[in-house]
Amino acid sequence: MHTKILQFIAFVTLSAVGPQLIAAKAVIRPADPWLDSRSQRIQAHGGGITVWMGTYYWFGEDRTLSNDPEKRYVACYSSRDLVHWKFRRQVLALADPEHLGPRWVLERPKVYANAQTGKFVMYAHLDDAHYKFARVMVATSDRIDGTYSFVRSFRPLDEESRDIGQFVDDDGSAYLIFESRPTKGFFLAKLTGDLMNVEKTCFVPAPLEGGALVHFGGLYYVVGSHMTGWRPNPNVYATAPSLAGPWTEFKNLAPAEMNNYDSQSTMLLKVTGTKATTIIFMGDLWHPRDLWDSRYFWMPLKLVEGSMYLPPPQPWTLNVKTGESAIEIGAH
Ligand code: GAL
Repeated sequence: MHTKILQFIAFVTLSAVGPQLIAAKAVIRPADPWLDSRSQRIQAHGGGITVWMGTYYWFGEDRTLSNDPEKRYVACYSSRDLVHWKFRRQVLALADPEHLGPRWVLERPKVYANAQTGKFVMYAHLDDAHYKFARVMVATSDRIDGTYSFVRSFRPLDEESRDIGQFVDDDGSAYLIFESRPTKGFFLAKLTGDLMNVEKTCFVPAPLEGGALVHFGGLYYVVGSHMTGWRPNPNVYATAPSLAGPWTEFKNLAPAEMNNYDSQSTMLLKVTGTKATTIIFMGDLWHPRDLWDSRYFWMPLKLVEGSMYLPPPQPWTLNVKTGESAIEIGAH
């Protein structure tokens, strides 16, 4: 009888505090397998985040092993806290749209929301197996997590374009970051009002890829990786008072021997809350032979007076309401 009562009390207590306990344990663990609401591995590699109606949407390359090998897939997940992700759907399942041939490439998808038209525009790097096509793909949908339809591919500003990145400034202006090898630098190109093309641009004279950008404390911080394919390298950053520059010299985000903790930049995400701002370095830990098993490397960056520092991977917590983040001392 006594045991039964104890069991009952334990059951009631656990039921009552269970959800809070889970909420308190909203920990981001860089490099660990990250599971979605179905307990399946999140497939959002080379991804980007779109904020829409108070919800975060994470889009990225879906490398699920059971995908049709002739097609390329983009998956979409949603979250209110950037930690727990609900699988929405494969929003793109595209057959080779430009006769690119075997092992054609669709990488680094990014979605922009047009508040005026309610349309959603996806950009992605489109290429052949030899990375010679060097264009962006544009696809649109009427719903953020609807099926995206291919519209066209093109070379932005008539330049070769490979890795792309996404940036939305505090005034809502949307930019496509694209890497262009012949120009030995990358472009920060403003999107047109309908988001379907690029217009004026700024140029960063540094041959980098995995380009990402954030605006914080009156400065723009640009981040990129060197061109070593899937192999990691020390990622670097520079700052400027405006997108037009002048840009400082590039410096390492982490001690060079750490090799960016084997990760490559894909996006910088600014989370501004009631008390603080956290800027998240979103990176990929690529597993080129098993791309589906590639991991995510998200860490809060330290930004002090124009310098940017990527801490070593450790579990950390984020509160999107207050904007505060904390490294979990002793957590594993
Ligand atoms: C990387 C690039 C990836 C992918 C890879 C292929 O440099 O960032 O998105 O294109 O090369 O080797």
